[in-house]
Amino acid sequence: MAGRLEGKVAAITGGVSGIGLGTVELFVAEGAKVVAADIQDEKGAMLEKRFPGQVVYARCDVTSEAEIEAALSRAKSEFGGLDILFNNAGISDRMTSITEVTAEGWSWIYDILVRGPALGMKHAVPLMLERGGGSIVNTASIAGLQAGWGPIAYSSAKAAVIHMSRVAAAQLSPQKIRVNAICPGLIATSIFGASLGLPREVADQMAARVAENAAKVQPVPKAGMPDDIAQAALYLASDAAAFVTGAHLVVDGGITVGSRHAWDQASPSPFMAMFGEMAPPAMAGQN
Ligand SMILES: NC(=O)c1ccc[n+]([C@@H]2O[C@H](COP(=O)([O-])OP(=O)(O)OC[C@H]3O[C@@H](n4cnc5c(N)ncnc54)[C@H](O)[C@@H]3O)[C@@H](O)[C@H]2O)c1
Repeated sequence: MAGRLEGKVAAITGGVSGIGLGTVELFVAEGAKVVAADIQDEKGAMLEKRFPGQVVYARCDVTSEAEIEAALSRAKSEFGGLDILFNNAGISDRMTSITEVTAEGWSWIYDILVRGPALGMKHAVPLMLERGGGSIVNTASIAGLQAGWGPIAYSSAKAAVIHMSRVAAAQLSPQKIRVNAICPGLIATSIFGASLGLPREVADQMAARVAENAAKVQPVPKAGMPDDIAQAALYLASDAAAFVTGAHLVVDGGITVGSRHAWDQASPSPFMAMFGEMAPPAMAGQN
């Protein structure tokens, strides 16, 4: 059976680690040729060796418009064009409270998480038009939907990614370019360590620790893994999603379905505190 991305060319930012790496692996398995764009050269070189002729690594800091443009042009020079862009590179910060934000820190987060994908879309469009259309997928976050899942600059930047995807979807639909966002929940990657400023090797080890301990943080009793998000990116990138644009797909094992007491019997329901034994079972969390 032909792969679901047979004949397609994709560019994936943040493509050498975590969600981006999982998506490179899945897209290649589905027949795509991939430009993996990132700032970790050693991992990029290893990826090229793993997938000769199928993956090229482009050094690309997404805070540089010139580097974004150059990385995307590799899709054409190496593989003949561009059909799919996965704007996924990211990091977080430690400005957890509004009282702690700095002008430089705020701009840095927005440059990576919002301006990077915006410029990625800008430079992908002319290449996609040459192919008669395309699909753009932007990585947002559940932090862009609810408070409590990330620092304030990061969270508001991810909310911007969701809305920017909608606006771009409206603008690009006449040109047959679809734009969607994915909101991952807690996924076992290096981002937690990297955001604390730890060296990459240490951050990479933390991903395994998250994988071991993340089965109980959401209703679905397994740790969220890069492949869970890659599968969503594959759907949105592929022709299976031909009628889907401007959407944000929440892939979080149900962590945002509601209060914890709704799915975790051990978590006290606020209704129990109010009504004690008189609380109806559904309110007490006894579903
Ligand atoms: N892991 C989670 O729980 C989670 C949840 C929601 C959203 N996300 C988002 O998923 C995306 C991927 O993160 P991940 O969890 O796979 O983390 P990761 O650290 O494993 O991967 C992020 C990649 O982005 C690259 N990167 C960072 N800054 C860059 C820059 N300026 N230019 C180019 N590349 C850069 C890193 O080198 C790294 O390879 C991010 O946008 C992140 O915000 C992650």
